[in-house]
Amino acid sequence: MPVITNIQDLKRIYERRVPRMFFDYAESGSWTEQTFRENTSDFEQIRLRQRVAVDMSGRSTAAKMIGEDVSMPVALAPVGLTGMQHADGEIKAAKAAEAFGVPFTLSTMSINSIEDVAEATSKPFWFQLYTMNDEDYVRRLIQRAKDANCSALVITLDLQILGQRHKDLKNGLSAPPKLTPKTIANLMTKWAWGIEMLGAKRREFGNIVGHVEGISDASSLGAWTSEQFDLSLDWGKIAKLKEMWGGKVILKGILDAEDAKMAVKVGADAIVVSNHGGRQLDGALSSIRMLPQILDAVGGEVEVILDSGIRSGQDVLKSLAMGADGTMIGRAFVYGLGAMGQKGVTTALEVIQKELDTTMALCGERSVENLGRHNLLIPKDFEGDWQD
Ligand SMILES: Cc1cc2nc3c(=O)[nH]c(=O)nc-3n(C[C@H](O)[C@H](O)[C@H](O)COP(=O)(O)O)c2cc1C
Repeated sequence: MPVITNIQDLKRIYERRVPRMFFDYAESGSWTEQTFRENTSDFEQIRLRQRVAVDMSGRSTAAKMIGEDVSMPVALAPVGLTGMQHADGEIKAAKAAEAFGVPFTLSTMSINSIEDVAEATSKPFWFQLYTMNDEDYVRRLIQRAKDANCSALVITLDLQILGQRHKDLKNGLSAPPKLTPKTIANLMTKWAWGIEMLGAKRREFGNIVGHVEGISDASSLGAWTSEQFDLSLDWGKIAKLKEMWGGKVILKGILDAEDAKMAVKVGADAIVVSNHGGRQLDGALSSIRMLPQILDAVGGEVEVILDSGIRSGQDVLKSLAMGADGTMIGRAFVYGLGAMGQKGVTTALEVIQKELDTTMALCGERSVENLGRHNLLIPKDFEGDWQD
């Protein structure tokens, strides 16, 4: 077994182990992938201030996210088709998160269902909702999340239509994979993945198949989203969903100060500053660059979580020091899951926590709660000088 010291190590194993179509699905952004690339390269522009001769004993990465105790403020982001990256992927990721003490978010477009994950875990997880045209289905989905004791509803706002990711179209992405000469040739080189997948609890969209009538093709994400996603979602509908849920609501996919203010107005408990990992509006700025103006706009009235581009504990630290209350990771945990199942997700979390803790110490801080802009060196033009 290779020695794993960072997230990129997990990515290399993941790439070898998982069928190309699912690797490509995770490892792409939309169109030119500019936003996808800048999500990570913008983190590199921020530097850290080294401080010395500060007592480093008794450090802690513990914090709270939406009032829940977490061992570090890093939640697993909702990731569709996680159960195609590894057999029973959602169950395994949720178990790893629970044992580590961080929140797990189950996507509407998951392979394991809400009930599967609830049965396999004991602490509440978060459920991410995509709104559909079929209002009755949405109502039932929300009820299922309530019955499963989910502690937050994460409503994703940046995917009413799907941003085009070229590779998914070229690969004919579907769950389970359709057998064509190309996919068969690739699957033959991924036998360990295939053997485990034969024993998987599910290989289709577990929250959808068997729960919706009259869907023409539930295997293809593209077909499903174009047919079913609610194009008319607006703030009025968001308010109604919040009421229907009745519990904590996290609005995900906020990248603009005006939208952030609207999120406060509808009474969100938290927002996720996110561009969907560069998978939707290519050309949008990175989350970390947009964060300062969003923080200014909401003025502490809502908890602010950041995702998109986090690949290390240093990136987590930079997000928190910039002013975010918490973070989410998508690909960083998917690499671990695809590489080594549950153990891989745990390894990804351990890597990130160790990096966060050591970086914090070298910055002269003992607690994530004390991190602030005083720990950072931010280029003067970082936020950009854009025309009105
Ligand atoms: C393969 C993949 C699938 C995703 N599926 C969903 C999803 O079903 N629902 C959702 O709200 N976000 C989804 N996202 C976005 C993530 O929740 C998160 O915003 C993004 O991954 C953060 O960027 P990062 O991967 O650079 O950490 C997905 C991201 C990836 C990479």
